Amino acid sequence: MKIPYARSFFGSRRPSRLMRKDWDLRARENALFYIDCGHGESETEFWASGRKDLDLLILRGISLAPDAVAVEIGCGIGRILRPLAGRAARAYGVDISREMVRRARRALRDVPNVRVFRTKGALDKIPTASCDFVYSFIVFQHIPVKSAVSLYIGEAVRVLKGRGIFRFQADGRASGEAAGTDTWNGVRYAAGELRGELEAAGFEVLDATGEDTQYMWFTACRRSEAGRPESAAAQFSGAVWDVPALERLGGRLGHDPAETAVRILRGETGVRLLAEGFIAAHRDTAPADYVRRAYRAILDRDPDPDGLAFYIREIESGIARENVVDCLIASPEFDAKHRTKRPAAESATSATTRPSLTAESTRPSLTAESGPEEA
Ligand SMILES: C[S@@+](CC[C@H](N)C(=O)[O-])C[C@H]1O[C@@H](n2cnc3c(N)ncnc32)[C@H](O)[C@@H]1O
Repeated sequence: MKIPYARSFFGSRRPSRLMRKDWDLRARENALFYIDCGHGESETEFWASGRKDLDLLILRGISLAPDAVAVEIGCGIGRILRPLAGRAARAYGVDISREMVRRARRALRDVPNVRVFRTKGALDKIPTASCDFVYSFIVFQHIPVKSAVSLYIGEAVRVLKGRGIFRFQADGRASGEAAGTDTWNGVRYAAGELRGELEAAGFEVLDATGEDTQYMWFTACRRSEAGRPESAAAQFSGAVWDVPALERLGGRLGHDPAETAVRILRGETGVRLLAEGFIAAHRDTAPADYVRRAYRAILDRDPDPDGLAFYIREIESGIARENVVDCLIASPEFDAKHRTKRPAAESATSATTRPSLTAESTRPSLTAESGPEEA
């Protein structure tokens, strides 16, 4: 897919200026589309997608107390801030684009507990140790330089109270030619790299999902510190792999089931890497057939008509077919089918992210469909 205003930042000492200019242009041309390519066709669909993404992705496993203070990095026109406003006492949004901020303020003028600021790359309007929850979705994947993402990680450490939660999505695909080249194709990370950076910055990593996909999510808890207020307003309850479900997944992807589960549990491989063979075998499969097979292999079911139509449209519009696999692996449904509640004895805040070998075999019932959207 050809994205306009994807200006190369090479040679510029000020990538933040280019990011602002490009996102201002995108906002003026078609803000809804560039924010949420999959659901930007009507206002109704756009705002409904914000509520769904808040519940299924941003707050997955997280409970917010009514007195929580939250911050969104890269808030666009407030797609997620709007429903969040009903779940928190106060929410701040920051965005690099003046035009996005102008539109967000207009779209949220009936929501008194949200404030939106323009940023040049920091959270400078937000007081130190004042927040319980910081999040970001489909933003870091567009930032062309890692130093800009690192600045936000440092800012999250600054604004969060002790034990506050930072949850964000980043692009975890192996670096390709397009990665980090302009203001649309942003930087990519190996999971270990981000984990190391978060820990060095002052976080304890509680959870990582969707490793090696475009939709890699990290959930981290800011360490306590003498003299810093503590937060109990954002709580994370993690999940662990459901071993029998993992074995069945390995089998559907053409691997030895038991061996697959052990390798994943030991951290020797990831689900996305296991799907490489499937992707290679279906390079030339017709889109509809490919989507059906991907659903069966990854989610163990046939696609619903909306999911089928959505991903066929994505492939036909030029989005790489790997993206279907990424979305299904990073979807709430994948999690619900392959992970299970952490046993009570293991507290989420003290857990390592290495999946536990003590997973139960019961699996949560599953209702949700659909993966996250391409931005
Ligand atoms: C795809 S949109 C997502 C908006 C919002 N997170 C949502 O899900 O509705 C990406 C947003 O990130 C903003 N953005 C891009 N680079 C940024 C940066 N370096 N700092 C802050 N915001 C940025 C863009 O202006 C745009 O509003």
